[in-house]
Amino acid sequence: MKGEILEKAKKEIEELVKELNYHCYRYYVLDSPVISDEEYDRLFRRLQELEKKYNYILPDSPTQRVGAPPLDKFEKVRHNEPMLSLDNAFNYEELLEFDKRIKRHLKTNKEIQYTVEPKYDGLAIELTYEKGILVRASTRGDGYIGEDVTNNIKTIKSIPLRIDGTSRVPELIDIRGEVYMNIKDFEALNREREEKGEPLFANPRNAAAGSVRQLDPSITASRKLHLACYGLGAVRGVEFTSQWDFIQWLKEARFPTPYIVKLAINIEEVIEAVKELEERRTELPFEADGAVIKVNDFKLQKALGVKTREPRWAIAYKFAAHQGTTVIKEIIPSVGRTGVITPVAILEPVRIGGVTVSRSTLHNWDEIQRKDIRVGDTVVVERAGDVIPHVIMVIKEKRTGKEKPFPVPQKCPVCGAKVVRPKGEVAVRCVGLNCPAQAVERIRHFVSKGAMDIEGLGEKNVQLLFDSGRIKHFTDLYRLKKEDLLSLPRFADKSAQNLIDAIEKSKKTTLARFLYALGILHVGEYTARLLAKRFKRLEDLYHVKKEQIMEIPQIGEKIAASVAEFFSDEKNIKAIEELKALGLKIENPDYEAEKPARKAPLEGLTFVITGTLPRPRKEVEAQIEALGGHAASSVSRKTDYLVVGESPGSKLQKAKALGVKTITYEELLKMMGGTSK
Ligand code: IVH
Repeated sequence: MKGEILEKAKKEIEELVKELNYHCYRYYVLDSPVISDEEYDRLFRRLQELEKKYNYILPDSPTQRVGAPPLDKFEKVRHNEPMLSLDNAFNYEELLEFDKRIKRHLKTNKEIQYTVEPKYDGLAIELTYEKGILVRASTRGDGYIGEDVTNNIKTIKSIPLRIDGTSRVPELIDIRGEVYMNIKDFEALNREREEKGEPLFANPRNAAAGSVRQLDPSITASRKLHLACYGLGAVRGVEFTSQWDFIQWLKEARFPTPYIVKLAINIEEVIEAVKELEERRTELPFEADGAVIKVNDFKLQKALGVKTREPRWAIAYKFAAHQGTTVIKEIIPSVGRTGVITPVAILEPVRIGGVTVSRSTLHNWDEIQRKDIRVGDTVVVERAGDVIPHVIMVIKEKRTGKEKPFPVPQKCPVCGAKVVRPKGEVAVRCVGLNCPAQAVERIRHFVSKGAMDIEGLGEKNVQLLFDSGRIKHFTDLYRLKKEDLLSLPRFADKSAQNLIDAIEKSKKTTLARFLYALGILHVGEYTARLLAKRFKRLEDLYHVKKEQIMEIPQIGEKIAASVAEFFSDEKNIKAIEELKALGLKIENPDYEAEKPARKAPLEGLTFVITGTLPRPRKEVEAQIEALGGHAASSVSRKTDYLVVGESPGSKLQKAKALGVKTITYEELLKMMGGTSK
């Protein structure tokens, strides 16, 4: 009897593991879940319960992805076969030469087939599966010996813990791929770090590498990492004939594969595919620094072999860098709304990746010292995604001796007040209570896009309104009359009316936006949203205690203290009450009383898509349907929303003519409740 119960429990556990792993694959690899988050959580909890009760834990149980304790150091791992690097090509000429070399080596005139994949700019990883079970994940290291990062890699949910979905399960297989972070997630991570006063990652690659090489796997688990599998190491028990065959197998076996893999019948088609990839580069959600071209046939690969560290059968075509070289004309100390003084480099304008760059942040004064940046220096500037350009390094060989170091300011460049540098902080701060720079910056921040979003109030207009005495504080904005503007040089009847209308419109806002707009020290958009989730009404924050805020798991003492201090100051509460009296209406859609059961969020809505989205249209449409919506192919009066991607087609005009609402892909994701990656 007892044995029978145990058998039954084991069977349920096995089924739950299989089912949960399948849903993980639907969600994280295909991006098209078939069950709700709540249902997933319910099954997961049931599994946890049974595992505990019967002490029966399968090696591929999803409960084993997290919870491994921190390590003291990483163990070394020898790769079954070395992980090679790639030779580079910088133009199409060099690709043609690559093709010639291969034909010469193989003594053939026949066309060679190649695959073309994006070159992910991340961290190379090897996954080792024995009898279908993931037993080890290791970094590339020096190519021969890497580090064991199994517990960290297991937290990446798109990585299968067991090979499933195919009958071809090898005895042993080493699968190579790149761990990477999407540009959006990288930027969000940096914003979060900035709010917490932590050092920023220079680019998505460093963020991905830094997240994997963590002794504490729970830190890795908190980062949004992805994997693209593209390479085969040792294998026993299954044969693959070509790269294409291998990629198809990876897909079948539920591994995440590169965004695009093209099979080209000759080098001309390779060049076409590379061209297309480079043109579409900005639409990729991740940073790709080139394309990787591989001889498709594994027999030919073997015949070509390896020269020292690079295979003869593959090459990386490097895209034009998102970097440029220019000269620093000037360094100016810029005073922010919290009084922090940041150095900004004014550059000789330079085109980088299609954009003219003429200023760049130097982050802080330590950074200037560390990189030894001087006025007049020739420097390398990089733009990664939409990130503010930054100076990577000084080209010291170009120095003439006339370059001047820029000292840390001892006085505020705007109000002349003393500056302080709190212990342990890199920030230099102006303590002038009436510093006009801070006042202007606070107003600029208040009206900015993520805050009250008052259109037509750019930097220049804020400065003008401030200098002319029309506003001293952001509360004054809501007292402005059209006449106040008409007497100013930059305003005519129409522009004045537009601004008054925009100010009026901004009165209706959300608690998250408003909290962010207030410019509380350390409260960025992310923290503001966390606060709005917890506190229903603005008034609930008046005289709030630090401890109450620290109940929010993601908020630490420093931020909590800053929020509590802000709301303990009567001056601030008075300013808020004044805004309310002037007609400000605050709603709080972010508030989570209890986590509400998410029903089909798109129920009853019809969507049409035009232009290119960051993901395949079919997938997006499937997701719309999965969430209760309807995805139609043409615009009509029945269409609720037109989702507009890159280079939209004629559907956009039609939607405008019919008055159909248009939204961006990001807005669609929001409506979906952020179920996407
Ligand atoms: S194939 C011998 N494919 O680029 C083949 N590598 O510069 C070696 N990489 O260490 C790898 N995307 O970390 C390959 N689609 C791709 C890749 C890729 C990124 C990285 C990989 C490798 C480095 C070589």
